[in-house]
Order: sequence, then C-alpha cells, then structure tokens
Amino acid sequence: MSASEVGPGRLRQAAIYRAGVLGRRPAVPTDFGSLETAARRASSARAWAYVAGGAGEGRTMRNNRRAFDRWVSVPRMAHGIGSRELSTTVLGTELKSPLLLAPIGAGALMRRDSDLAIARAAAATGVPYVFSNQGCNPMEDCAAAMGDAPRWVQLYWSTDEQLVDSFIQRAEKAGAGALVVTLDTTILGWRPHDLNLGSLPFARAEGIAQYTSDPRFLEIAARRPPAAARTTVTLGGLRTLAAMARNYPGGFWSNLTSKAPRAAVETFLDVYSNPGLSWDHLATLRDRTRLPIVLKGILHPDDARRAFDDLGVDAIVVSNHGGRQVDGSIAALDALVEVREAVGPSRTVLFDSGVRTGADVFTALALGADAVLLGRPYMYGLALAGERGVTEVIRNVVAELDLTMALTGTRSIADIDRTVVRRSDAQHW
Ligand code: FNR
Ligand code: LAC
Repeated sequence: MSASEVGPGRLRQAAIYRAGVLGRRPAVPTDFGSLETAARRASSARAWAYVAGGAGEGRTMRNNRRAFDRWVSVPRMAHGIGSRELSTTVLGTELKSPLLLAPIGAGALMRRDSDLAIARAAAATGVPYVFSNQGCNPMEDCAAAMGDAPRWVQLYWSTDEQLVDSFIQRAEKAGAGALVVTLDTTILGWRPHDLNLGSLPFARAEGIAQYTSDPRFLEIAARRPPAAARTTVTLGGLRTLAAMARNYPGGFWSNLTSKAPRAAVETFLDVYSNPGLSWDHLATLRDRTRLPIVLKGILHPDDARRAFDDLGVDAIVVSNHGGRQVDGSIAALDALVEVREAVGPSRTVLFDSGVRTGADVFTALALGADAVLLGRPYMYGLALAGERGVTEVIRNVVAELDLTMALTGTRSIADIDRTVVRRSDAQHW
C-alpha cells in the first residue's frame, strides 16, 4: 500500500506508536486541552495574556467552542472506502488538506523568529501560511523560508493609503496566492488580560516587522516630529526601551541610543488599522491588485452577500477573530451556517475561530466551509517546540481529520457536507 492509500491518519499514528516503542513521546500533546495547559506553562504571563486572551468576559470564545458541541456526525458503516482524498483547491491554491494557518501577529512573544519557524513548518506540511500584517518577520523573509510552498498575505487597512499600496505590492512580489483583508480589527477590542498587565506587544516593537521593513512606513516615521521627552524614568520604561531596541531591526546597542525604534512604534500607533474603514475603501481593491481578494471577519449574511454581489470579492473568511474583538458575539460556526445559506453553494467561504482538532475541521467543512484556518493551536505548538511543535500540531489535526473521514465514510472533501452531521438535539432519523 502506498503512503497516500494508507492516509495521513494511520501514518501519524504509526509514527507516534513506533517512536513510543523506543520510549519517545510526541513533542506536543495530541489533544487540545493538554496542549493548552503545556503551552501556558511554557509562556510568560504577557505572552499568554495576548495569545490566549479574548474580548471582555470571554463569552465569544466560549460561544465558539460551544457551537461545535451542538453538532454531531452520524458515522456510516461498511462503506467500503479504503482511501481518502484530502486535497482541494481554493482560489487556485492547491491544498494538500483543507487547512491553512491563520494570520497571527506578535508570535515572537512565544518564540524568537516565530514567523520563520511557522513558515518552515507550513512549507514542510504543504499547508499555506497566511502571513500576518502584525508579523514578527518581514514577509519577504518568510517567503524565502518557504521556497515554492503556498502563502497568502493578510492586510490591515492603514490610515495611510500609500502604505496600503506598498503592502499590497510587497505581497504580490512575495508570491502571495491571495490578499486577505481583515475587517474586524479596525481597532483592538477590550482585552482585560492584556489591560490588566498594561501590556501591548506593539508598544515594545513586537509585531511591527512588516512596518519597519516597509519603505513607505520608514518615510512616514522619519517625517514624524519627535515625541515629547519623558519626564520620569521608571524601571518599566527602561525595560520597554530595551525591548524596543531588541525588536527593532539592527543591532541592540545602536538601537538603544537611536530615536528610530520609538519613532517607529509611535508612527505605527498613528497609522495602524483605519477605524473609518468602509465598503468604499474596499471597492478600490480590485484596481489595486491582481491577487484574489479575501475578506476576513464576516459574520452577518448581509455583509457576506454584499462582499460577493457588490464587490465581487473572491472569498470570505467567516470569523470572529477568535473571540478577541467583541464580547458576547455570535459563535463563528453559527454564523457560518447562516452565511453559507445566504450566499449559496458556489461561493468560496473559509472559516476560523474555535477550530481545535481534526474533528472540528470535519464539522466546519460539513457546515459549509471550503477550508479552515487553524489559529491558536499552532501557536501553542510553537510555544512548546518551535518549528517542530507547529509541524506536529498540523500533522495531528490533519491525521484526525483523515481518521474521522475514514470512520464516518467520506471519501473526499466535497463529500463532507450537511448530510454527515446533525444538530445534537435533533431527531436523527
Ligand atoms: C490573531 N488573529 C489575527 N488575524 C488577523 O487577520 N491578523 C492578525 O494579525 C491576527 N493576529 C492574531 C493574534 C493572535 C494572538 C490571535 C490568537 C489571533 C486572528 C486569527 O487570524 C484567527 O481569526 C483566530 O486565531 C481564530 O480563532 P482561534 O481558532 O485561534 O481561537
Ligand atoms: C490581534 C490583532 C493583531 O488580534 O489581530 O491582536
């Protein structure tokens, strides 16, 4: 039997059990609960607050997970399907499995050169990586680390239109397969975990590498009048200056005495995402890029219809940003059901927020997603074991998806449709 006939599920199980015979354990736990617990232990309080934290009282994050519990699969037996096909194509990008890595900013909170490690893991597993606009390594470096492997680029709409164009041009040159414009974070949500620590990664120049490597951004930063001198020197203030010097490109010691890192942080805070973003801005996209356009953060069916029918975008991502923006908002999975109904079967609809396992990927596909973006789980893999941790998390999710397909009787991604799931409280037959 060839590897593709055995499938990624049995291959992964075999690799783990074979290593187990020699006394070796997987680098990262294979269930989400243990993965989260271990990652929390391995992270600083600041890193954990930012990555794991959500908006307000955490209701949206809980909603995201509870929504998955309301759906169950109804496995079929003796279906005779011995091998499965997990590959699919989204916007011309060939995916080995219906999975992408969600854009996640400030990853270096968990590991230095986070985005490079993630990029390598994505390339090794054939899962496209959506580079974050708040990344910690310039998109060009991540692209170089990936060779020909697929990558997309995510954009936050800056208040500076020339910076928007500069990011778009760089995305095109970096070989992006699509431009993902995130709509739901025109300002940051109310995030008590960060607020209680007074911690904003960007204020320490963490997660602004796309900006500090951008010619247009550097031009604006150089023109910015210097901020008023600080009157009080505190230990915390000195630590922040040291962090800025460490995170800003160039040498630590020369950065420490330079005004550039602080000017960059302040310029970033000026030009970061535009709170006045409107459909009129988005309507200009078509003339600004040849890349397929994806709008991320759609929840309302009317917004979904408008994106496709009025703007003619190529795809949307139904997402509530992992519950980081609005407390008490609709679960992304519930929104997916409504959006898919509204836009019909042929539009490309991607999904994220709350996906933790391969079985979750199966549920999201059944409810209408064409592919799914994995978020926090891969960051937890990164925190625990760097590139290897990300690779293992991806392999585990794909493995469980494959086994779920095998054990429910679905041959291909297209086969995973509404007929394979039921509401858990519904009459089954
Ligand atoms: C994000 N997300 C995000 N989205 C985006 O478009 N650009 C970004 O820079 C970031 N940054 C970011 C940082 C962190 C720490 C997290 C957890 C998330 C949102 C991300 O792309 C995705 O929508 C969520 O991660 C999905 O939720 P779960 O499944 O990770 O809970
Ligand atoms: C966040 C932004 C960077 O969720 O997307 O923190």
